[in-house]
Amino acid sequence: MRFDQATDHGAMPLAATIPPEFADAWPDRAHCPDMPKSAVAFAAQYAADPVGFFVLTGSYGSGKSWLMGGIANAVVRRHNPTIRTATWLDGPKLAAGIEVDYGVTVPGWRVDRAKTTPLVFLDDFLTGKTDARTLAVWDDIIAARHAARLATVITTNASSGDMAGMGLGRIVSRLAWPHGIRQLSRDDDLRQTGKLTAKQKGQSNG
Ligand SMILES: Nc1ncnc2c1ncn2[C@@H]1O[C@H](COP(=O)(O)OP(=O)(O)OP(=O)(O)O)[C@@H](O)[C@H]1O
Ligand SMILES: [Mg+2]
Repeated sequence: MRFDQATDHGAMPLAATIPPEFADAWPDRAHCPDMPKSAVAFAAQYAADPVGFFVLTGSYGSGKSWLMGGIANAVVRRHNPTIRTATWLDGPKLAAGIEVDYGVTVPGWRVDRAKTTPLVFLDDFLTGKTDARTLAVWDDIIAARHAARLATVITTNASSGDMAGMGLGRIVSRLAWPHGIRQLSRDDDLRQTGKLTAKQKGQSNG
């Protein structure tokens, strides 16, 4: 097998795949001030020992991606052995790539990577394309990760009720293993009101 065939196209160390806006995120109260204590404590626990799905749902700006960034940073900093085979995936980009991939090879390498990488951070699941074929591929990805018991952190604006309403009961049932689906605030937009936002604005103003 040639080297380029053996390479996971696009594979990068986890640290390099975490968006820079989450560089300072960490799963503790100081770095997540306006968030339920239980969610932060649970994120810290998960970062120390990532097992199964950890799904964060909530409205826009409720701090889902920030908390997930905190978990990813903690995994990197603690040199968890799975770190070499972990990646941060952008849900809408993956959904957009599905069509492209399927035109060339089945399954496409992006889908294959999403199914098999030992630790995945999937941001904005179900944002973007949700046509029947894309949803069928998501179902395939989630079912494969569940069957192999792979560690997967997910953020999504869709509540379990929303997903059930989209006919995604199979997905909801798997995502709930083993930690349930964590609902962050339905109405707090921390992008506008969070203590962290004020601090970030202060910093950018010098
Ligand atoms: N725990 C927190 N306490 C205070 N402010 C926070 C917290 N988490 C996030 N913020 C602020 O809110 C902003 C938005 O957070 P984040 O990007 O995590 O939201 P989100 O839930 O992922 O939203 P979306 O659904 O739009 O992707 C952050 O850039 C930060 O300024
Ligand atoms: Mg987000």
